[in-house]
Amino acid sequence: MAWPYPFWIAHRGAGKQAPENTLAAFRVGHAAGFRGFECDVQLSADGVPFLLHDDTLERTTNGQGLGCVLDWAVLQHLDAGSWHSATHVGEPPASLAGLAELASAWNLALNLELKPSPGQAERVGAGVARWLRAHWQAPCPPLLSSFEPEALHAAHAADAQWPLALLLEQWHANAPAQALALHARAVVCHHASLDPAAIAALHAQGLKALSYTVNEAAEVQRLRAAGIDGLITDRLDLRDA
Ligand code: G3P
Ligand code: MG
Repeated sequence: MAWPYPFWIAHRGAGKQAPENTLAAFRVGHAAGFRGFECDVQLSADGVPFLLHDDTLERTTNGQGLGCVLDWAVLQHLDAGSWHSATHVGEPPASLAGLAELASAWNLALNLELKPSPGQAERVGAGVARWLRAHWQAPCPPLLSSFEPEALHAAHAADAQWPLALLLEQWHANAPAQALALHARAVVCHHASLDPAAIAALHAQGLKALSYTVNEAAEVQRLRAAGIDGLITDRLDLRDA
């Protein structure tokens, strides 16, 4: 499969301009001309994939405690917009099903970050991969990424058709070998530790090199000059910088 993902990927939907990881954030990003989006996916207690960055609900919703211990019937009625702005009062958390409808309608290219709470890596990796097999219809397959090798391993074991990416907070020399062992197509590394040699090492192994979360024009230029294949950003305006 050719690499189908655009260079520019909006972080958590367009998660600064609208409440992160809600469908409103994808609508805003799409209206601004984006079709590449990163977002954070976990599973409700009853196995429904939904979008939430933190383990807990307090920062981005009016709920409390761990998200993964509640059923979707409860989660879907939370307010995930009021914390952001008055414009988005009452915006619900997004299910992956809701996002999949937008992906089909708008031909989105998604990077679904598997974001398991502690102890949930195998369950989330396998659960999301199986859910996608049963439900995904958009032309571009989502890229599944994770900081948790166990989640990537479980996703591959459950359904090997989904492209994978290893997320790293810090570059290390064993990253290409680790990514290949996990059947990953790409490494997505925090920008601060990614240099031209690291990107060349990934390319030498046939891997794509992506970086998060790049919000400065000078850093875009540095990484572009080094051959980066894609950037995750909060700044919808950086494409034009
Ligand atoms: O997927 C890249 C980036 O989203 C990882 O960091 O904390 O924003 O999920 P975080
Ligand atoms: Mg993320």
